[in-house]
Amino acid sequence: MDMSFLDVQNLKKHYQARSGLGETKRFVKAVDGVSFSVKRDKVFALVGESGCGKSTVARLILKLIDPTGGRVLFKEQDITALKGDSLRAFRRSVQIVFQDPFASLNPRMRVIDTLGEPFIIHKLVPRKQIREHVVVLLEKVGLGPEALMKYPHEFSGGQRQRICIARALTVSPELIVADEPLSALDVSIQAQILNLFQQIRRDSGIALVFISHDLNVVRYLSDEVGVMYLGGIVELAGTEELFSAPKHPYTELLLSSVPKITTDRTADQSPRIFLTGVQADIPSPIDVPPGCPFHPRCQKRFELCDKDVPALKESGGRQVACHLYK
Ligand SMILES: Nc1ncnc2c1ncn2[C@@H]1O[C@H](COP(=O)(O)OP(=O)(O)OP(=O)(O)O)[C@@H](O)[C@H]1O
Ligand code: SF4
Ligand SMILES: [Mg+2]
Repeated sequence: MDMSFLDVQNLKKHYQARSGLGETKRFVKAVDGVSFSVKRDKVFALVGESGCGKSTVARLILKLIDPTGGRVLFKEQDITALKGDSLRAFRRSVQIVFQDPFASLNPRMRVIDTLGEPFIIHKLVPRKQIREHVVVLLEKVGLGPEALMKYPHEFSGGQRQRICIARALTVSPELIVADEPLSALDVSIQAQILNLFQQIRRDSGIALVFISHDLNVVRYLSDEVGVMYLGGIVELAGTEELFSAPKHPYTELLLSSVPKITTDRTADQSPRIFLTGVQADIPSPIDVPPGCPFHPRCQKRFELCDKDVPALKESGGRQVACHLYK
């Protein structure tokens, strides 16, 4: 059994918020005490509305930023302490696929160089054999050898995302963190890329941390789901258990709102999702409400809810942070 593949323990990332002269310092609690573990070969999904901290968790797991508190253990090693060879090995083992495949590819590099570069950097393959290896990689992601000499702009969005996935696969990773990898693609292409993730996961046994606002995608692909709200996890459960019987009132709301999720696009083209038809606005991670952070929007709240913070606790084979479950 491999319980200790990726362990996220009480992870926190606070940013100092801008404040005026003489004002007391305030903090954006982007991630505030998140814990979960991911097993080898499994897909762990993180869901929640815009700004709840999903990408910050992803960046912490990838060691792109350092935590304010808590730790990430990858194969029992605290990633904050990694240096030298062990850091290089970590950088190979854990790869990312971003939302926007265009922004994450160098427009001046041909596919053969984009995909060949990691082989050279990590000294994995003799130069003469790189072409051969890149062709195999392309085949894995459903592209032919005619792609080799092309530049990113010569491909469609879906094909570019295939190239990004191929690049993540060059170094034979053990874990891929995918942050909204489908949401910049046309709806008609999303299913193809989703199937590619499913195929990779089946054929290669790579674990995935999959961030998505599309609950149908999450249900299809993931084994376990963490539902995030204002920097914390409010429910952690097996995918089928969660979808067939959500326990936390926020999970219920998310699932019942599936058709009502609005996706508008910000100036940088990233989709932002919010639930519509809920009485109160999402509180800010600078002013997290006292007690249960969800209480201003919760229809099931009672006296205790605006006083005591509910801890994430075991309840019938899953974990829930709500006073309704003792
Ligand atoms: N570098 C930073 N400095 C200050 N605040 C930040 C920084 N990065 C993120 N935040 C804030 O932390 C919170 C969580 O952001 P994060 O990007 O992790 O959310 P998210 O769940 O990925 O949202 P989305 O679905 O829109 O991608 C937000 O309120 C965001 O404004
Ligand atoms: S603790 Fe109270 S306010 Fe929070 S989700 Fe549960 S019932 Fe609602
Ligand atoms: Mg994000």
